[in-house]
Amino acid sequence: MVKHHDFKRCEQSGFCTRNRALADSVSTKGGPESSPYRLDATSVKFKNGQLDAFITKTLADNDAVKLPLTISFLERGNVRVTIDEEKRRKGEIELRHGSVARKERYNEAGVWALTGAGLQSQKTATFKRVSDNIVEVSWGPDNGFKAIIQHAPFRIEFWSGDEKQVVFNGQGFMNIEHWRPKIDKPVAADENNTEVDSAEPAEDQSTWWEENFGGNTDSKPRGPESVAMDITFAGYGHVYGLAEHTGPLSLKETRGGDGNFDQPYRMYNSDIFEYELDSPMTLYGSIPFMQAHRKGSTVGVFWLNAAETWVDIVKTKHGANPLTLGLSGGVVDTHTHWMSESGLLDVFVMLGPTPKDVAKSYGELTGYTQLPATFAIAYHQCRWNYVSDEDVKDVDRKFDKFNIPYDVIWLDIEYTDDKQYFTWDPLTFPDPISMEKQLDETERKLVVIIDPHIKNKDGYVVGQELKSKGLAVKNKENNIFEGWCWPGSSYWIDTLNPAARAWWKGLFSFDKFKGTMSNVWLWNDMNEPSVFNGPEITMPRDNIHHGNWEQRDVHNLYGMTFHNATYQGLLERKKGEVRRPFVLTRSFYAGSQRTAAMWTGDNQASWSHLAASLPMVLNQGVSGFPFGGADVGGFFGNPSKELQTRWYQAGAFYPFFRGHAHIDTRRREPYMLGEPYTTIMTKALRLRYALLPAWYTAFHEASTDGYPIIRSQYFMHPEDEKGYAIDDQFYLGSTGLLVKPVTAEGAESVDIYLSDEEKYFDYFDYTIYSGGSKTHKVDAPLDRIPILMQGGHVIPRKDRPRKSSGLMKWDPYTLVVVLNKKGEAEGTLYVDDGETFDYQQGAYIHRRFTLSDGVLKSIDIGTKGSKTASYLKSMTDVKVEKVIVVNAPNDWSATNEVTVAEGDKGTSTADLTFHAASGHKAAWAVVRSPGVCIGSAWSITFPRISSQKIDL
Ligand code: GLC
Repeated sequence: MVKHHDFKRCEQSGFCTRNRALADSVSTKGGPESSPYRLDATSVKFKNGQLDAFITKTLADNDAVKLPLTISFLERGNVRVTIDEEKRRKGEIELRHGSVARKERYNEAGVWALTGAGLQSQKTATFKRVSDNIVEVSWGPDNGFKAIIQHAPFRIEFWSGDEKQVVFNGQGFMNIEHWRPKIDKPVAADENNTEVDSAEPAEDQSTWWEENFGGNTDSKPRGPESVAMDITFAGYGHVYGLAEHTGPLSLKETRGGDGNFDQPYRMYNSDIFEYELDSPMTLYGSIPFMQAHRKGSTVGVFWLNAAETWVDIVKTKHGANPLTLGLSGGVVDTHTHWMSESGLLDVFVMLGPTPKDVAKSYGELTGYTQLPATFAIAYHQCRWNYVSDEDVKDVDRKFDKFNIPYDVIWLDIEYTDDKQYFTWDPLTFPDPISMEKQLDETERKLVVIIDPHIKNKDGYVVGQELKSKGLAVKNKENNIFEGWCWPGSSYWIDTLNPAARAWWKGLFSFDKFKGTMSNVWLWNDMNEPSVFNGPEITMPRDNIHHGNWEQRDVHNLYGMTFHNATYQGLLERKKGEVRRPFVLTRSFYAGSQRTAAMWTGDNQASWSHLAASLPMVLNQGVSGFPFGGADVGGFFGNPSKELQTRWYQAGAFYPFFRGHAHIDTRRREPYMLGEPYTTIMTKALRLRYALLPAWYTAFHEASTDGYPIIRSQYFMHPEDEKGYAIDDQFYLGSTGLLVKPVTAEGAESVDIYLSDEEKYFDYFDYTIYSGGSKTHKVDAPLDRIPILMQGGHVIPRKDRPRKSSGLMKWDPYTLVVVLNKKGEAEGTLYVDDGETFDYQQGAYIHRRFTLSDGVLKSIDIGTKGSKTASYLKSMTDVKVEKVIVVNAPNDWSATNEVTVAEGDKGTSTADLTFHAASGHKAAWAVVRSPGVCIGSAWSITFPRISSQKIDL
């Protein structure tokens, strides 16, 4: 059970309480017109797509606070609104308790989260004064977007065409807590000389200057400084995103009521022991990005703030027909209320209009997913802990004995000498290199864990250097911060400090991190950071980082600075040996997708956790960090054999696929379970390996376009309202593979919802399912993963079972062509060396396969670079060994050959075998050994369909 008392609820957080109270009071009393924020009309300057002005906040005593405002209208159609506070910006404030903290509002979140791309203002944006109280800016494609900026009260509406999409401060919840000096209550002495209060303060200041929680006091040297604003999505009934939380993909309302949460979604990266399901509680990572979706349109909002953030969500319905009890014709608005403890108010809006556009825009700002090495998307075998190098070797041999593929074996914290990272336990891991060499024989890898807490122990070189070089996080007194984690007393590396990062980088070189070779990669855990004896199991908020920023300002991005530094350390560990690094992180922020993979932390071996993993992993895709998965089998507890088997079947469709288990659990490598489970799990693993070309292609799309790798129903069928809340089935990239993992004990079938009218075919036996807008019952006995193929796709596979993905590199391909109702299909394949960065110089193959009019063609869609020719040459022996055509037309039964043409090689023939349709199963045909290269242009001509009698 999660320890609720360890973590704050909104009522226990000063700024969350204050902002919710303000929202309540505005809603019930003053209304949005009472908002004290007004744009100073005389200050407005507009130049080159950027508006600069001041907002004034009028205080109760009529004093005013000056808040600099910048609105940048960006080239892709995004817009950025930034509000600062002049006094803090100029440093005209006093810190309390002699703090060394910076006086400004934290203004560097963008340095970490943004790539710098997509930030150019659109010079052709036009500015118009509409009235004394309103100015309007048009920008975006064909200047079709419009921002209507109202001065008093300050409010912005973002329109696309003639539809209002997003409104800032429409409800009047905007709140920038300005700096003010602490006025100590005047005290008077009574006749006994005891001090008594002489006056009650006007506002409840109890959480302004100090805040207590769980026996810790936050000294808050800058006083109250939260930023908050309401953002309304006009006409939008569904919002998604805000990773990382449990609960449904379509986010719930948070202000109470039937089936709703009564707490805002919280983002404050934390190590939550035994986290609960269906909850708005914070988890290990935070991405303050939200997408809103409705028929015809998708928009996005990115709240660029790394401090603790809470988001309330309330939906209202208007315009409903009272005669139908409001059930039809109404329009739903989703109102959100964002509250952050400190920092700037800095928000991006993306106006879509499709889920793909929003994903691409967000990816352009914060970076696309790294293109991982191939092994990283294969299967990972982990547990806490493989106890010795002999144990690792033994597990490795057993996988081979049972013919089970795997790519990576992992070592958890026990491999170290007394939890001192960069060392090996001399008794249990006396010879790591021989272990790594054995793994290397089958192209396998080792991942070892290294966390950001560094043991405080005499004689531990890494710890001593960290301390002596002054590279650790400091406490509020500006001395080294000491806390408790796995090693006992520890220090934390301050990876916000460039000097710390440079030092960290050096620790990974092979001559420094003895016992590692080039097949060793990294796992960064506990980087929230987890501090066992800290408030909310993390660092005190008044700790000090490089640049004198307080931990409260950077809390949610600290984990990312750490895994980024590790990535940099792994890039080049030996001069000239540059490989794509693999780093797994538990904590993350917007931008983490550029350098790491994530997993959902310490889940449990239960059916409910298996089910909960699907919306969580899908939401990672919505939130721009799709390379994720959950601990397969469940971390805590021992799964039943059935549960573990079903989990492997589901895990085979997580972008990151790793079995992991707590130290107290029984061993559960797939071969341990016995029959029929071992065979069934092996089948699931083999399926993952067979589909690696499709996975890699989906990762490539994520790395260039920002699309999710597994894609939810609303993303694939944005026009189908019935699919908006579906989060237990998904598509793999653009392959048309639709998967619905079994997450219920004893299930024999699942219901799969189909949106569209296209035919779908069972992946294994080609049973036909058709009929959109309804669910279909699909058989799912234990040995079967419910997978359908949507008509109209070409799915690339490699069907030869091997020990690891590395050994499949030169294997031939199978293309599964699934004809749609028109007898056509299309698909793509991306291939490169899977380990270096040569693809950036053109060393890759990118093909489009199309089948129409009975001709299957392979077309080049890549761009050439200096390394293209040599790469293609190295791939000339990699062929297509088989083409399977599902839903093949009956005419093809009349012949047993196809014509193959490749480049200037002339034509040849290949065998065609036709299998007639039977019962509900589609006809299919197989072309064997067409002999064409995967990297070249070719065509395969099937028998002409004389009468165009395609079997519909
Ligand atoms: C944390 C991680 C878990 C790991 C353990 C020991 O609980 O989430 O995956 O096994 O620490 O390192």
